[in-house]
Amino acid sequence: MDVKAQLAEQKEIVDRRIKELAESWRRGGGNDGDVISAMEYSLIAGGKRIRPILAMASYRGCGGGDERAWRGAVALELIHTYTLIHDDLPSMDDDDFRRGMPTCHRVYGVRTATLAGSSMLLAAFEELAGCCRELELGDKISARAMSGVASAVGGGGVVGGQVVDLESEHREIGRDTLHYIHSHKTAALLRVSCTLGGILAGAGAEKLKALAAYGEDIGLAFQIVDDLLDVEGDSAQLGKTAGADQARGKATFPSLYGLEESRKLAAAAAERSCAVLRRRDLDPQGVLAALARFILDRSC
Ligand code: IPE
Ligand code: IPE
Ligand code: MG
Ligand code: MG
Ligand code: MG
Repeated sequence: MDVKAQLAEQKEIVDRRIKELAESWRRGGGNDGDVISAMEYSLIAGGKRIRPILAMASYRGCGGGDERAWRGAVALELIHTYTLIHDDLPSMDDDDFRRGMPTCHRVYGVRTATLAGSSMLLAAFEELAGCCRELELGDKISARAMSGVASAVGGGGVVGGQVVDLESEHREIGRDTLHYIHSHKTAALLRVSCTLGGILAGAGAEKLKALAAYGEDIGLAFQIVDDLLDVEGDSAQLGKTAGADQARGKATFPSLYGLEESRKLAAAAAERSCAVLRRRDLDPQGVLAALARFILDRSC
């Protein structure tokens, strides 16, 4: 099976699980106003589902074979979607379109969108805890899984990257700061998606280190390509407004390095990520290497 077909099949698994999850939230009842509807709206709008797919590929690369691990993998998609809802808010990037639809706050208002994001982040940890329980991982491994994800998305990770991203708007920043932004706002979640897969499979320190290095590099490549697509891509295909970075004076790879050099840097990061896998024999089927290529060559 080629990588496109594999991705489509796995995306379907994530989509189905997300639908089931949203139904379970509805059954939970309570007076949530429109929060659950807003959560469902943003989650079901689509997306590539690359983080859960990476987590499962890493899980399998470390010898994991239990389909119930998908529950933990899908938790990463909830976290990612929370970051998108908050990233689009008027106080952040102030974007109108996401995943081909009006942004969550455009439809449900800022208050509901903010609460939907917060609620989604917490739901993710409920799902991750449920996954650890179902896989009977034990306290130590479960705690490592939960705290690994928490620290990747908190102030030392995604949130920290978002802070510097916003502070850097319309300012001249150096390359170190740009690398800090990309490594935190985006690579942190991709990196922990890979290491979480390893942790759920019971991988040892060496394998986790290799997965972290792979995840960091594909995360960097991912955000450089995101920056490039903002310049060169098409809004309809991207499902979000192209040209938004320049309009907001964002610090991006094309703005600091130019388009040509940015493409080279993304390709070099993807190549580095694959070299780590080869050294550690972590990817016998070539799935993680194919995902690195997909991240580099994507057009949306
Ligand atoms: C967009 O992420 C935000 C970034 C980290 C650049 P994706 O490109 O993975 O968005 P979806 O999930 O496919 O919509
Ligand atoms: C992505 O940054 C990082 C997060 C969403 C946390 P961007 O602001 O570049 O993402 P897009 O371009 O809006 O998807
Ligand atoms: Mg942003
Ligand atoms: Mg944004
Ligand atoms: Mg962007």
